[in-house]
Amino acid sequence: MDRAELVFDAPNSVHTEITTPMATVDSVHHPKTGTWQYIVADPNTLDAVIIDPVMDFDAATRTVTTETADRLVSLVKKKGYRIVHILETHVHADHVTAASYLQSVLEPHQACRPAVCIGRRIRDAQQFFGPKYGVPSAELSSAFDRLLEDDEVFPIGELEARIVHLPGHTADHVGYIIGENVFCGDSVLNADLGTARCDFPGGSSKALYKSTRKLLGLPSRHKLWTGHDDPSAAERRCPVPYMSVEEQRQGNRHVHEHVTEQAFQQMRDERDAGLGDPELLHASLQINMRGGRLPKPTPQGEYYLRLPQLGFGDCYAEHAAKRWCHV
Ligand SMILES: [Fe+2]
Repeated sequence: MDRAELVFDAPNSVHTEITTPMATVDSVHHPKTGTWQYIVADPNTLDAVIIDPVMDFDAATRTVTTETADRLVSLVKKKGYRIVHILETHVHADHVTAASYLQSVLEPHQACRPAVCIGRRIRDAQQFFGPKYGVPSAELSSAFDRLLEDDEVFPIGELEARIVHLPGHTADHVGYIIGENVFCGDSVLNADLGTARCDFPGGSSKALYKSTRKLLGLPSRHKLWTGHDDPSAAERRCPVPYMSVEEQRQGNRHVHEHVTEQAFQQMRDERDAGLGDPELLHASLQINMRGGRLPKPTPQGEYYLRLPQLGFGDCYAEHAAKRWCHV
């Protein structure tokens, strides 16, 4: 029997703890970016993983702070967990990952270094974006401790996690299956929101439809823990971390069981054509493909990110029309 508990509901945060027969899952919502962060633990050994942690990044002042990440660390310490992996579902374009920061804080505390991991296709994203942003290859090759293969299985204490490739939102996107829990990132959102955009480089509405079919083909009881939730867009009061496979099959507004591939592709492509860039797009990509690190500082100790400049007359018109695909 699952047990759910609303542990903390401050004005700017929602945190739930859910204990299933297989795992204890803490879900912490980051309201500014709508991101769900997860801590998944083996209740017997207290070994645990963190999935998609967020670093606070203020776009107006270009300031990075660690308030959200430090709350995750406090939670880990309070529960006595040993974090064995910090897992990314994909290279996010809307928030900055706290993976590297958490690794540096947790390593001395628990006397073992949590490995920062992501799906192996991060190399393709790094090869695409790295030259555009002028990132030295040395900063990319060592950005992650482990690149995970499709269907690879690794232990979390006495639990097993399995990687599942879920392309569509991005090409490198993976999910993590732990018991009856599937941490599916941005491959499927809660049923009243539907799905995430597919217009990033390497994204594909056709591929996303196939990925959602893979997820909705899992046993009905499995929980699909989503990477994002925006309750205001769904006219709800609170963010929701998961819905069951059966709930998604019946009610997902974009990919319920009666939606055809052709209808989904048409809907998704039309919607994406009208979307603007995420606010933190360029900062997110440049930091996230480095595993959460800033670029190397200048001799004066300052950090710089790059911004593409678009729309300078006719010679850039095509680039401006295609927006960030040409950053
Ligand atoms: Fe995403």
